[in-house]
Amino acid sequence: MCGIIGYIGEKPVVPILLSGLERLEYRGYDSAGIATLDKNENLEIRKVKGQITNLRRLIQEKPISGSMGIGHTRWATHGEPNDTNAHPHINMAGDLAIVHNGIIENYQELKASLTSAGKVFLSQTDTEVIVHLLEYYYNGDMMQTILKVLSCLQGSYALGIISKHSPDKLYCARKDSPLVVGKTSHGSFIASDIPAILEYSRDVYLLDNMEVAVLTKDDIKIYNELGREVHKDILHVDWDIKTAQKGGFKHYMIKEMHEEPESLRDTFSPNVAQKDGMFSLRDDQLPLPADYVRSINRIFFVACGTAYHCGLVGKHIIEKQLRIPVIADIASEFRYRDPIIDKNDLVIVISQSGETADTIAAMKLAQSKGAKVLAICNVVGSTIAREADYVSYTWAGPEISVCSTKAYVSQLMLTYITILDIGRKRGIYDAEYINRALTELNTLPEKNRSVFENKAYIQQFASCHYGHESVFFIGRGLDYAIAQEASLKLKEISYIHSEALAAGELKHGTIALLEEGTLVIAIALQKELAEKIKSNITECRVRGAKILVLVEQGDRFFDDDADYIWEVPSTFPEYSPALAILPMQLLAYYISVQRGNDVDMPRNLAKSVTVE
Ligand code: M6R
Repeated sequence: MCGIIGYIGEKPVVPILLSGLERLEYRGYDSAGIATLDKNENLEIRKVKGQITNLRRLIQEKPISGSMGIGHTRWATHGEPNDTNAHPHINMAGDLAIVHNGIIENYQELKASLTSAGKVFLSQTDTEVIVHLLEYYYNGDMMQTILKVLSCLQGSYALGIISKHSPDKLYCARKDSPLVVGKTSHGSFIASDIPAILEYSRDVYLLDNMEVAVLTKDDIKIYNELGREVHKDILHVDWDIKTAQKGGFKHYMIKEMHEEPESLRDTFSPNVAQKDGMFSLRDDQLPLPADYVRSINRIFFVACGTAYHCGLVGKHIIEKQLRIPVIADIASEFRYRDPIIDKNDLVIVISQSGETADTIAAMKLAQSKGAKVLAICNVVGSTIAREADYVSYTWAGPEISVCSTKAYVSQLMLTYITILDIGRKRGIYDAEYINRALTELNTLPEKNRSVFENKAYIQQFASCHYGHESVFFIGRGLDYAIAQEASLKLKEISYIHSEALAAGELKHGTIALLEEGTLVIAIALQKELAEKIKSNITECRVRGAKILVLVEQGDRFFDDDADYIWEVPSTFPEYSPALAILPMQLLAYYISVQRGNDVDMPRNLAKSVTVE
């Protein structure tokens, strides 16, 4: 989730780019840079790791100027955060520069052919292939060249391009990564997010997939992938800056929940290839060596909070399907319990931030005992990503709300993929099963998106139930793991006391807390346990509890046992957590809003827990 700003016009471009980048800072980034083309057609780049203040300092030391340029804040995906990997990237002749948001999935193939064609790569980024491709295919017509290059790219992109070949034009293009263009009396802008240009223009065009825009200081023209001009309606934006940063949503949390389909897709796609209608896993993306996988005796999932709940899901699936013993442990417990662990154990640590102190300590402890660590992590270059033996990234982008939502579903997606990888490397899953499982995983983004259709209903439910003092979540098997995450969401942002219980455990004590009107939320997605949870629901109901049951779409089995039934789209039972959690997150969100809480920064909590 990087940020892009670009300008062509009458004003000095450097201050415009820098203030635009500052407007994008809220998205999170690890490096920043700009490229300008001045009136003598000098193409200059300044880029640096770290904050925009570092970039300002660099530009003060080595000034650049011009009235046309592009800027970027980078959130590392391919290659660690450093000066070289920062954008913009430039071609070998030094006559064109680009900035890019998104992920080029086929960059390795492209890089191999470009390298054999003599192109020298300076960075570890996927982006650099684009600038070399532009140079490679340039035929005197920049627009035709761009269309040709776009046809070679698989994945997602928002691109800003400047070139000495067309010193009076700024080009941009997009696919699956947002980009807007806007016009003012003194020039034209491109930006990945509206806030970057709101200071200058409130009238913007939203580019659609595969469109290319050509900006001059007086004009904007938009073309489709065939190079035909398209005419679009202007969007007038009357949001203030804060609302604009949240994409028009009231809070980051709700914005980030709406980004779940994209996060799921971005985490799925780079790990998966599709040929002749069959999905398969990409060996070049999945880091565990096959020999090593065959030698593993036990697997540990070690993490904190929401990430730990993802580990619980992993444990269920691995034990059931791969028959490898799994221990899921909370990092702060693991590190102090002198765990029995050795070189034949694989430890999978899961962390959004990659900086959680307990998880780092647990990882180091496991390594000191000879175990290998695979990190499932969202932040490239974080401590966990750097120090693990193997790393796989979730591509959820920066998560700003303290309450983790899109990072969790991305962790689930990567856990599912990792399990498929382990299973095939141990000879348990064949290509046919892998294809079937990946075909199903491929549907999760759209199924997740469809849950939003019930948003209004969930909001309405929240407005009737925000006054509870205590809420109980119950589930069995995998549903218990969902219940634990749902309960954490609710307590974290609503401040309502809540507990998650393995439903069979109720009668061993907690059932004493139920009274007339207590809200019990039962997760009932595992068909094989339906009868069992039904009895647990009855136990609660006869004690006066109000029952909400979460079921698979079309499941009528609980109709007579529930006060409310919510349905989630059908999927493989093991993939249901990635869909079932969304209504629970929405419920927690709307209850928090009803109670007037600070949703994004709940009391006493920090986004990244870097102390013990
Ligand atoms: O950055 P991490 O994934 O390591 O963070 C772990 C927990 O602190 C985190 O998931 C926490 O539980 C969230 N606030 C839950 O929404």
